[in-house]
Amino acid sequence: MTRSRPRHPNFSDEEIPRIVDADTNATATEFIGGSEIFQALLRRLRKYASLAFVTVLLEGETGTGKTMLARYLHSVSPRGQKPFLTMNVGTINDELASAELFGHERGSFTGADRTHKGYFLEASGGTLFLDELGKASLAVQQRLVTTVETGMVTPVGSTRTIKTDTRVIAATNVSIDHLVATGAFLPDLAARLTGSVIRVPPLRERREDIPQLAKHFVAALAPHVEYRSPPAIDERLMRALTRHHWPANIREMSNAMLQIVIEASPASVLKLEHCTQQLEYLRRLGRRERSRTTAAQVAQVVTRHGSVRAAAAALGLSVATVYRKLPRGGRRGASAERNGDGLGSAPTADSQFERDAT
Ligand SMILES: Nc1ncnc2c1ncn2[C@@H]1O[C@H](COP(=O)(O)OP(=O)(O)O)[C@@H](O)[C@H]1O
Ligand SMILES: [Mg+2]
Repeated sequence: MTRSRPRHPNFSDEEIPRIVDADTNATATEFIGGSEIFQALLRRLRKYASLAFVTVLLEGETGTGKTMLARYLHSVSPRGQKPFLTMNVGTINDELASAELFGHERGSFTGADRTHKGYFLEASGGTLFLDELGKASLAVQQRLVTTVETGMVTPVGSTRTIKTDTRVIAATNVSIDHLVATGAFLPDLAARLTGSVIRVPPLRERREDIPQLAKHFVAALAPHVEYRSPPAIDERLMRALTRHHWPANIREMSNAMLQIVIEASPASVLKLEHCTQQLEYLRRLGRRERSRTTAAQVAQVVTRHGSVRAAAAALGLSVATVYRKLPRGGRRGASAERNGDGLGSAPTADSQFERDAT
C-alpha cells in the first residue's frame, strides 16, 4: 500500500500556495491512495512505463493527478534518468506552439532571432509531456501526427527533418472521443493515441482515499500555519469531506484543506465550523449527514465493503463510530470479522447513502 509521507519543508509564508500545487518528481511513496482503484492505476502505469516507446494518453478530470502521474510514469520508465519536459500545448498560439515543439530556424518568423531546438529534440532520450493536448490547434495536431508516428521533426522554417527519440505522454481533461466527434481533434492523431488511453478516475470514484488525502494535506500544510504537530480532523468534517463531489478533485481538496487549516489555527482539531464561507457546501453536507446516516445504512455500507474498517474509511467515520452505529445483529457480525470471519452474506443492495454519495 502507498503510505502517506508528508514533508515538512521550511518554506516562508509566500511560498505556502506553491506546495498545494507542487511540481514534484513523483515517486510512488508520494502518492496518497491505498484504494484498490488507485493502486490498480499505478500498477497499470508501471506496465506502460516499461514499454518506453509507447505513447500514453492520460484522460481525466482536472485535478485528478494527471501531471503527477505523467512524471511518475516517466520516472519509473527506462528513461527515468533522462529529461522530462512539459509543454502545455493549449495555451499559446499556433506559430509559437509549433516553434516550441518542433524548433525553428533563425529568422523563420518575427522574433525568431536564433535557432531553437524545440521540445521534441530537447527531450530526446527522455519524455515530453503534452499537457492539455485536447486544446491544441488543428494545425499543431497535424504536425504531431507525423512526429508521434515516426519521431521525425521538421523545424519551422526548415526543410530538414531530424530524428528524435522522445516518448510522448499526453493529458486531456476532455475525452478524445468526444473531441473527435465535435471536430476539435484530428481522427488521425486520435488513432495514434487511443491505443494507450489511461483513465484517471475522479476522486469521487475512490472516496476511500479521501481521509488519507485529507490527513496528508493537513500534515503538509500545518507547519506553515505555525502548528507544531498537525491538528486532528473531527469526524463530522471528515464525513463531509468524504461525501463531497469534488468537481476539481484533489486540487480542489488541497485548497479546501488549506483554507480550513488557516481558519482553524491554532485549534488542535479541525471542525466543520472552521469551513470558510467558500466551503459552505461542506458545512451543509456535515449538518445534513448527522441525522441521515442511520444504523441500517451504515450496516449496508459495511456489508458492501466487507469490513468495518473499509466502511469507516468510505464513510469518513471512525471505526468506533461505525461499531456504535451498527444494529445489534450487525455488531455481532462485525465482531466476528474482528476474529477473522468477515461479515458473510448480508444483502448487498446499494443503500440510499451510497447513492447520495455520488
Ligand atoms: N495521489 C495523490 N496524492 C497526493 N497528492 C496528489 C495526488 N494526485 C494529485 N495530487 C496533487 O493534487 C494536485 C493536482 O494534481 P495534478 O497532477 O496537477 O492534476 P491534473 O494534472 O490532473 O490537473 C497537485 O497538487 C498534486 O500534487
Ligand atoms: Mg495537469
